[in-house]
Amino acid sequence: MKEKISALRENFRARLSAAQTPEQLEEVRVSFLGKKGPVSDLMAELRNVEGEQKARLGQLINEAKAEFAKAITAAGETLRQKALEAQIAHAKPFNPTLPAHLNCGSFHPITLIQREVESIFASMGFTVEDYPEVVDDYHCFEALNIPKHHPARDMQDTYYLDNGQLLKTHTSAAQNHIMRKYGAPLRAIFPGRCFRNEATDACHENTFFQMEGIMIDEDISISNLIYFMKKMLSEVFRRDIRVRLRPGFFPFVEPGFELDISCLICGGDGCPSCKNSGWLELCPCGMIHPNVLKAGGIDTDKYTGFAFGLGLTRLAMMKYGIGDIRDFNAGQLKSLSQFESR
Ligand code: PHE
Repeated sequence: MKEKISALRENFRARLSAAQTPEQLEEVRVSFLGKKGPVSDLMAELRNVEGEQKARLGQLINEAKAEFAKAITAAGETLRQKALEAQIAHAKPFNPTLPAHLNCGSFHPITLIQREVESIFASMGFTVEDYPEVVDDYHCFEALNIPKHHPARDMQDTYYLDNGQLLKTHTSAAQNHIMRKYGAPLRAIFPGRCFRNEATDACHENTFFQMEGIMIDEDISISNLIYFMKKMLSEVFRRDIRVRLRPGFFPFVEPGFELDISCLICGGDGCPSCKNSGWLELCPCGMIHPNVLKAGGIDTDKYTGFAFGLGLTRLAMMKYGIGDIRDFNAGQLKSLSQFESR
């Protein structure tokens, strides 16, 4: 039986070295280690052997079996390695000049306009600030000269949270924090998403973007405000834009204004986007109320300032000719993908 085992070993080695593909290797495995193979036969023959010899021969057979299994695994590994090397050798060299066929994503029009306005103001010395969307009553209202039960709170239909905080209804909610952070003199803009629980139509959404700006220094007046607004608009639209100032009431500015621009969708003739008036309310603004400056720790004998709350979403509608504000959040990839190359 010993001779049979060594003959089997030799036979196995010859067959193994002849196997050149994974399929041939599998055949070798089945024919030597399979249920009907020679190793099983030898095991069966052991039944006729007695005593100590049985144990010794059994050990020899098991050793051969383990050796075969190990050799087959190693041969499989070598074959895989060889196949990989052949693949690499035959692969086409990488050509960096070939055009890429990638489906590029695109920036949302609000992101594009936000970045553009940010860089315009940054070039005029304004810092760009971030502020949370969940704020407290003090920052959203009280610090802005809107005490509890003030009727002006009704101007903004607020989403209140169970924990007493609220979703910010306007970016002005960051004014106090930024005044306290930097003190005067100060130039800052702070874009953000705002929320109001109001009915939606072509020019109203319950979620929209604003860009607040404040400038505080000695001798700041309404003419500074008008200068910065006109400068920003002419850069965004790359031409002179017709604007008009109307008086507007906001408790945190005195005097307060509504800055309207001539509707660029209908050219001023009247359309649903401008409620047929030919004008679009774009930027409420005014001189910061002394109570607000005081709450922000600013010396009102020395400093004055202006604030504006630019409607970023409206601005994007005007710039890109989008007639319905609801399109921004409708997830229409077809319309969004038009912004791909910008
Ligand atoms: N926060 C005001 C609003 O959203 C807009 C505003 C900002 C008005 C700054 C004046 C000055 O209604």
